[in-house]
Amino acid sequence: MDNHFSAAKLFSRREILALAAGIGAAAALRVAPVFAAAGPLLTRPIPRTGERLASVGLGTAIIFDFDSSSDAAKRAERRAVIRTMIDGGGRLIDTAPSYGRAESTVGDLLSETGVRDKIFLATKVRATNSREACTAEMQESLKRLRTNKIDLMQIHNVGGRDRGETVAQLALLHEWKERGVFRYIGVTHSQDQEAANDWLIDLMRREKLDFMQVNYSMAERSVEQRLLAVATETGTAVLVNLPFARGRLFRAVQGKRMPAWAAEFDAASWGQFFLKYILAQEAVTCVMPGTDKPEYMVDNLNAGRGRLPDAAQRKKMVEFWKSLAA
Ligand SMILES: NC(=O)c1ccc[n+]([C@@H]2O[C@H](COP(=O)([O-])OP(=O)(O)OC[C@H]3O[C@@H](n4cnc5c(N)ncnc54)[C@H](OP(=O)(O)O)[C@@H]3O)[C@@H](O)[C@H]2O)c1
Repeated sequence: MDNHFSAAKLFSRREILALAAGIGAAAALRVAPVFAAAGPLLTRPIPRTGERLASVGLGTAIIFDFDSSSDAAKRAERRAVIRTMIDGGGRLIDTAPSYGRAESTVGDLLSETGVRDKIFLATKVRATNSREACTAEMQESLKRLRTNKIDLMQIHNVGGRDRGETVAQLALLHEWKERGVFRYIGVTHSQDQEAANDWLIDLMRREKLDFMQVNYSMAERSVEQRLLAVATETGTAVLVNLPFARGRLFRAVQGKRMPAWAAEFDAASWGQFFLKYILAQEAVTCVMPGTDKPEYMVDNLNAGRGRLPDAAQRKKMVEFWKSLAA
């Protein structure tokens, strides 16, 4: 696989001009991406089916929430991020109705560029006890995403919710899956992950979830205690949100050099250092950082290439992280 991409391959002349016009020539030049790290992008099997999913995807909270019909510069930039992901071997886009206009923006861009079939599209539905409200929101998502099939439908932020209500809502998602509208179903959580883990573990053991989405990063490692092992035991795929703790990890290392031993597992940037820590867990199916910058997308994809840290190296990474916080 050729990992060296030219800007010309990734962007049409029109897009480069649009980028230059909208975000400045320097920023447009900045997007000449190089998939420098060796080897293909790591893929992991979705346990229920064995379908392989690229291990690095894209989150859309906040950054895709804008009026895509009136902001040409942002539109060109987000479109370039998606194209960069596809060209680099990535597949998954995660969005949600609660991310403002993000679903509509994703739908517009996928339809405009004709790449819907290259994307593993994951969205969410709010936790609700109303079958009508859940149905209406899922129908709206299909419309906004301009598709008749969603790869993964997840109930949003379920941790600690009444289990019976969650199971009832999951039953509706199962119906849609049986009708072929969803290929997979699951749940997500992110806030106060540690407090939710036991609840999520119990749900995974009782219900046949295809996917569990959790908050996992060097700064929030509580899923390592048991949840990841139970995901493997129950055949549940794991998506990781907030892998950079909303950028807090980068702020913690600002102005700091990466330790020389990071080269032992092919981490060439802080972004790769943080993502490789997560990807080293076999239970993790896909990590999905948010970014509006093609060069960050390239950097994130490169985390899924080359070597990953072993157990001893991961221990060293945690000690290093703790020393930053001390
Ligand atoms: N409960 C849930 O289901 C839930 C909750 C939260 C999030 N999520 C999902 O998880 C996704 C990821 O979360 P997030 O976007 O909020 O936080 P995040 O991925 O932890 O961090 C995003 C931040 O990292 C920066 N960044 C990304 N790649 C970088 C790189 N290679 N080098 C330097 N900086 C980089 C971004 O900068 P720029 O903005 O400058 O690109 C942004 O400031 C969301 O978009 C959403 O899809 C789900």
